[in-house]
Amino acid sequence: MAIWNLGSINIDMVYALPHMPAPGETLAATSFEQGLGGKGANMSVAAARAGAHACHIGAVGPEGKWCVDRLTEYGVDTRHIAMGAVATGHAIIAVDPAGENQIILFPGANRALSADQIGQALSSANAGDILLMQNETNMQAEAAKIGRDLGLRVAYAAAPFDSAAVQAVLPFIELLFLNEVEAAQLQEATGKAPQDLGVADVIVTLGAKGARHFNGRDGSVSDVPALKVTPVDTTGAGDTFTGYVLAALDRGLPMPQAMAQAARAGALMVMRHGAADVIPDLKEVQEAKF
Ligand code: RIB
Repeated sequence: MAIWNLGSINIDMVYALPHMPAPGETLAATSFEQGLGGKGANMSVAAARAGAHACHIGAVGPEGKWCVDRLTEYGVDTRHIAMGAVATGHAIIAVDPAGENQIILFPGANRALSADQIGQALSSANAGDILLMQNETNMQAEAAKIGRDLGLRVAYAAAPFDSAAVQAVLPFIELLFLNEVEAAQLQEATGKAPQDLGVADVIVTLGAKGARHFNGRDGSVSDVPALKVTPVDTTGAGDTFTGYVLAALDRGLPMPQAMAQAARAGALMVMRHGAADVIPDLKEVQEAKF
């Protein structure tokens, strides 16, 4: 089967800082690097690296051709990425010595997708394929409805978190990915615990504590522990986890194994600087010693 990913593509501009800047502070970076990112692109690369057929649906501007070329190099099917006049999205990422980040987003082309583009791409999808989205593009609810109507398994990673955006896709999704803070915010907004949202599988990442699966069918809850690693940069680790979970489910793995494999991929990611360019492949993930 295939994973169709309606997702952002960003040029990541990454600044290593001695600490996060305070309001009004001017601060010199100790290093600068530019690479491929965007939650969508990161998830597509992770899914492809994990062995899935990942078809990215997105857009870049005139200066973004290299992003598409790089996605192709990393094994992503890029036939449904539009190249238009609106500038490629970019992210300004500050990383502190503990590996934590702060991100400023310029959405650009990511929020200029057309209904025609989505419809055309998904007309090639087959029932049982996965449709994935995050909150860095437009057309999320429209795509989710088309996906559900076509018999796709619709998945949503609720980042960057916006309660209204999640609630707009909730009626259509089978899988929902949240972090701990986002899960608490969604519970506050809806008054419902994760297993009561009407979503078959809700996965909440808990950082150094691992990840939790809420089974919306029978209400059961199960945990996958995190691996003990020292982070240098957490950028893209959650995206890698999501892409790996979906690729494993697409291969028919049960949820606990899919999450355990994704936890290993996420652990490798936090030990590396960068996002899409450093996502490990399945062999590395399987062979890594922690
Ligand atoms: O999740 C990490 C990603 O968030 C970065 O690659 C950046 O582009 C932003 O979208």
